[in-house]
Amino acid sequence: MDKLISLRGEIDRIDEALCRLFEQRMAASAEIAAWKREHCVPIRDAKRESELLARNLERISDPDLRPHYKTFQQSLMACSRAYQAELIGQDPAALMTVSTSQGSYPVYLRRGALSEAADLLDLHRRVFLVTDDGIPPAYSRMLAAQCGELISCVIPQGEASKTLAQLHTLLQQMLDAGLTRCDCVLALGGGVIGDLAGLAAALYMRGIDFYNVPTTLLAMLDSSIGGKTAVDLGGVKNTVGTFWQPKAVLIDPDVLATLPLRQLSNGLAEAVKMALTHDPELFARFEDSTGCGPVEDVIAACLGIKRAVVEADEREGSLRRVLNFGHTLGHGIEAAARGRLLHGECVALGMLPMCAPAVRERLVPALERLGLPTYVNREEIDPEAVLAAVVHDKKAAADGIMTVFVPRVGAYELQAVSPRALRERLETLYSAS
Ligand SMILES: NC(=O)c1ccc[n+]([C@@H]2O[C@H](COP(=O)([O-])OP(=O)(O)OC[C@H]3O[C@@H](n4cnc5c(N)ncnc54)[C@H](O)[C@@H]3O)[C@@H](O)[C@H]2O)c1
Repeated sequence: MDKLISLRGEIDRIDEALCRLFEQRMAASAEIAAWKREHCVPIRDAKRESELLARNLERISDPDLRPHYKTFQQSLMACSRAYQAELIGQDPAALMTVSTSQGSYPVYLRRGALSEAADLLDLHRRVFLVTDDGIPPAYSRMLAAQCGELISCVIPQGEASKTLAQLHTLLQQMLDAGLTRCDCVLALGGGVIGDLAGLAAALYMRGIDFYNVPTTLLAMLDSSIGGKTAVDLGGVKNTVGTFWQPKAVLIDPDVLATLPLRQLSNGLAEAVKMALTHDPELFARFEDSTGCGPVEDVIAACLGIKRAVVEADEREGSLRRVLNFGHTLGHGIEAAARGRLLHGECVALGMLPMCAPAVRERLVPALERLGLPTYVNREEIDPEAVLAAVVHDKKAAADGIMTVFVPRVGAYELQAVSPRALRERLETLYSAS
């Protein structure tokens, strides 16, 4: 009996020490959670967990104890994950959570995510899937197989589909299919599909659930979060729209395998935009002649920047305007190019005149490396047409057009620029040719 009492005493002392160590471990875990939220790193790191397990198992000298230690270590890691998820209000499987006035939503980013859609999204209801005819049907089939009741709508690819007429068609199909407020819209595509299907979801019965599954790089790293939805009107982009946040965003970088190279470059232009205004390290990746590293890392870095901006200024009161860097002239160039240039290509061009000379010197080779244009010629892009579109786009031209300027990599300032000064800056894109 004495022996039992003494052994239990020993267990009590060890447990007491373990309690202190547990507290220390969880305190470190909490700091890691905050860091992960800020840097947009998922809570679960399967590689780190398996390395930790292997290393610690080796430290257990008695082989008979190893399976028991394994159980202990695994439950400790699960406990850490759950604690981190609770602290930052995030699904442990998600890359991040975006918090908005319309609620918070998870963003899932991982290869193969398309095949796990039903585990991550609530598809056990009527699902109105919107996609376009340029997206490989295999992706919609993969989603369709996981949906309760599916109504599928394939629209013609391209910006020309972002119209009130196409929106009307979608809404009518939703009504004909008997969609109720409990059902959802699932957008599978690039920015065009996200903007259009998101708007349809926002309007139908005053708003139903909307899931965004971006399939272009541009949509993955930019348009999929933030809740901006719109169609164009009379040739003017994004004139009719609203803010409608998705219920969740599911990003599977594997689908980029079928995306044409030019579309990949197009998406990277928006990544360069975010790097230039916010993240010198990310910008350095684009200058690296060996490539910018895994695309998931670029997507996660950009989404981290965009989330911070969107959370601070959900409805583009002021701060969110920084996301328009390169877009003032970019939109003008896009209008004047009449479909010859992609949106990202125009943003790439639009950024160049809006940087300090030292930044421009670094930006030109970076854009060239990414396959993006750095100059235009007068025969193809009429500078007067660019300016006319810019002034039309920004009606407040009398007080100067609000633009974003980058004085050094990782910083930005808002500047009111007169149409004349803007015309002079635009000229630098021609003199470079
Ligand atoms: N809402 C926002 O915050 C926001 C932000 C930026 C841009 N946008 C909008 O996004 C739109 C541009 O989006 P985009 O660049 O994704 O273009 P997009 O949606 O037109 O897609 C480009 C092309 O790629 C094809 N495609 C898409 N995924 C594919 C895949 N995985 N494999 C093969 N082909 C594929 C499409 O069929 C299409 O032809 C513009 O209308 C712009 O206004 C919105």
